[in-house]
Amino acid sequence: MSASLTIALGVELPPEIVERARKVSPGVELWTAAELERDPSGYREAEVALITGWLEQEHLREARKLRWVQTVGAGVERLLSPEVVARSELVITNASGVHAQPIAEHVWGFLLMFSRNLHLAAARQHEGVWQSQTYRETLRSLRGKTLGVLGLGAIGQRIASIGPAFGVRVIGLKRTKERVEHVAEVYGPDDLETFLAQSELLVNILPLTAKTRGWIGRRELATLPRGAFLVNVGRGATVQTDALVEALRSGHLAGAGLDVTDPEPLPAEHPLWKLPNVIITPHYSGAHPGYFQHLGELFLSNLQRYVRGEPLVNVVDKQGGY
Ligand code: GLV
Repeated sequence: MSASLTIALGVELPPEIVERARKVSPGVELWTAAELERDPSGYREAEVALITGWLEQEHLREARKLRWVQTVGAGVERLLSPEVVARSELVITNASGVHAQPIAEHVWGFLLMFSRNLHLAAARQHEGVWQSQTYRETLRSLRGKTLGVLGLGAIGQRIASIGPAFGVRVIGLKRTKERVEHVAEVYGPDDLETFLAQSELLVNILPLTAKTRGWIGRRELATLPRGAFLVNVGRGATVQTDALVEALRSGHLAGAGLDVTDPEPLPAEHPLWKLPNVIITPHYSGAHPGYFQHLGELFLSNLQRYVRGEPLVNVVDKQGGY
């Protein structure tokens, strides 16, 4: 590393975090988000950058001195252009961990809404009708159900850890089979069918990669037990939308909680909006009030590692795509 270090903070972080970043080593030159907004040439000088991961290809192209990029989000599919993948000197780290608690809350929120018919009651509340029979007849319980967690990273593990509180048995699927706390059985990608066949509640947290795009289609949905619920908080395009709509209409799927969709944004006339057994939230499950503090602390601790020449945490496998 050179004696001076130029850092481009393309995203606004709490002032106290910015001040700590300035002091991480002597000779830091730091561009704040406001400065970069006025003058994006700061990216050209930067060795380290914090970026959203969505919009910045043009800055990346010009930033030939960059060695490390920290992204604001977890998914990096839009950042990983062939050009970025080919830049072997450029390390990318993501914000894995920052979303675990809010997304776990969001997922269990969907599952509780479905089991207690809260979505149906809320949708009709404005009618002012006190009539509980319709809701009582189709109540379910989470207790005794099997929850399949598709993608067992930080988010999946946090979701799994809450399973015992509701008497839910948790199984999971991840790229590399290994024991995971609170998960009764961990399957690998080749075991998808065995995994799906048991998943009465399926939570999809897959990143979008060449391998996962459209992975859950007609056949996979049909493999779920009849009456299963699907929750997607990963990426919409890992599920084939037409197959999803079909499975919801036929009743094979009892419901879907979708924080992500394909396409996104979901057009106003899309049939998913109108299905009574679907709850849609417009891609905000990972957001929470302390997000930028948490992200800032992750960035700072990685920055300290970077300055000391130590390995960074949350390094993205650029070939694998996440
Ligand atoms: C949001 O979807 C993220 O990947 O952080």
